[in-house]
Amino acid sequence: MTAPRKPIAVLVSGSGTNLQALLDWSHDPTSAFRVAVVVSDRPKVGALGRASAAGVPAVVVDWRDQPNREAFTKAVCDVVDEHGASALVLAGFMRVLAPEAMARFPAAVINIHPSLLPSFPGADAVGDALAHGVKVTGVTVHFAEEQVDHGPIIAQEAVPVLEDDTRATLQARIQHVEHRVYPQVVQAFAADRLAIEGRSVVWETA
Ligand code: GRF
Repeated sequence: MTAPRKPIAVLVSGSGTNLQALLDWSHDPTSAFRVAVVVSDRPKVGALGRASAAGVPAVVVDWRDQPNREAFTKAVCDVVDEHGASALVLAGFMRVLAPEAMARFPAAVINIHPSLLPSFPGADAVGDALAHGVKVTGVTVHFAEEQVDHGPIIAQEAVPVLEDDTRATLQARIQHVEHRVYPQVVQAFAADRLAIEGRSVVWETA
């Protein structure tokens, strides 16, 4: 008998290419997860169309309608609960969640960031890496903590910065890696193969 697939919520703010990679993986019979709901902090973004096309419920919790970060976080977590999801997978989600999210979904909030953390945290990691002149940047997937871009690192992969790179070309090369790495991480998480030991994440063998 195959184990039931872990229901996850994917939180988005934009075009949703990482969401698409997760949806594509989830349609494979070997997937350990399914996308139970997509939550966006703003209306009319590309990710919402991707959810609809995949037949996945999509809910907008417009952050502008909420009085503060705490109320916004509670509303998001309530939607996730209502759809039976047990994990929050942040995929280009541009809002900072209040501690309630990590308290309600302990060790089950995951984020992807387009740099090799702890280098270049924040909203413009690709631009900051280019401006700094680094030769290598990359992708980090980590468990989220209250402190932004700080939690235990699950996976990292380096991406070279080329001499003629623009923001767009570097971002495209980073996203290509993201779309391969993120579903692999969520698969391992959903199969209970990730153990947090202090600041380290240990991958248990499949
Ligand atoms: C990704 O590069 C992610 O690392 C960053 O925002 C981007 C989202 O892209 N946080 P998309 O919405 O998945 O296309």
